[in-house]
Amino acid sequence: MTRIVYVNGDFVPFEEARIPIMDRGFLFADGIYEVSAVVDGRLVDNEGHLARLDRSLAEIRIPNPHATEEWVRLQTELVARNGVTEGLVYMQVTRGVAERDFAFPKEARPTVVMFTQAKTILASPLAETGVAVVSVPDLRWTRRDIKSVALLAQVLAKQAAADAGVFEAWMVEDGAVTEGSSSTAFIVTRDGTIVTRPLSNAILPGITRRAVMRLAEEVQLRVEERAFTIEEAHDAAEAFLTSASSFVMPVVAIDGRPVGDGRPGPLARRLRALYVEMARGEA
Ligand code: PDD
Repeated sequence: MTRIVYVNGDFVPFEEARIPIMDRGFLFADGIYEVSAVVDGRLVDNEGHLARLDRSLAEIRIPNPHATEEWVRLQTELVARNGVTEGLVYMQVTRGVAERDFAFPKEARPTVVMFTQAKTILASPLAETGVAVVSVPDLRWTRRDIKSVALLAQVLAKQAAADAGVFEAWMVEDGAVTEGSSSTAFIVTRDGTIVTRPLSNAILPGITRRAVMRLAEEVQLRVEERAFTIEEAHDAAEAFLTSASSFVMPVVAIDGRPVGDGRPGPLARRLRALYVEMARGEA
């Protein structure tokens, strides 16, 4: 099957897709992106992702080129054309193409690009074993609530994880964990409280985070939004991370030290099961 991508109104074979070198996404990382998961051929928690896309675009003053229903139509068509039953839909909007100049161009039309990636999410073997993470300094700018395509600090963080042979890097600022390079960080204290950092400009407001917190509260689990240190994470009963691409992923080691008994914890497993159930149950 030929891979089909979406570029500015057209569904085209991947090999034929072209973006001009003067695109501001390429020159300045002047753009926003989103990633929604697909399971059973259906988009997961997609409303939240499209709402965050709209918010991110507004924060950097790029007009949203599509209404929500239009985004959904394009995503659905792209998923169908690529025969994706499980994986990801990536969407990117940049400020468009203009002669290189830092300030906004007077006349530029946003560039819209979308592609799909097949990925095993539900039956991921990593969800069974859990993953390890390493801590790294958080090198990012101060508006991490915006899902900007300027991801160099996260690229370096993820490479530090890859160099260490682990799945993810947890970024640390002023002694506290902010989040993962591409995921939200959680711990479970020894008294069974689920802890994650409160929303602010310091982290991305994770869509999976929000759903998992809601699911936890629905089954009467205790959730506390506060910052935590790597030392506290080392001593935690459990740890896990959340993202559109991993759902809920147990974290079983931090900086080479096992978390709890070094196996996926019961709450992480339960929350993963609840999230999967929600994802599969969506119409
Ligand atoms: N990353 N924090 C950061 C820095 C992220 O990049 C992501 C997502 C998350 C989790 O957000 P959500 O639950 O809405 O996916 C938290 C996506 C998956 C990516 O860049 O591929």
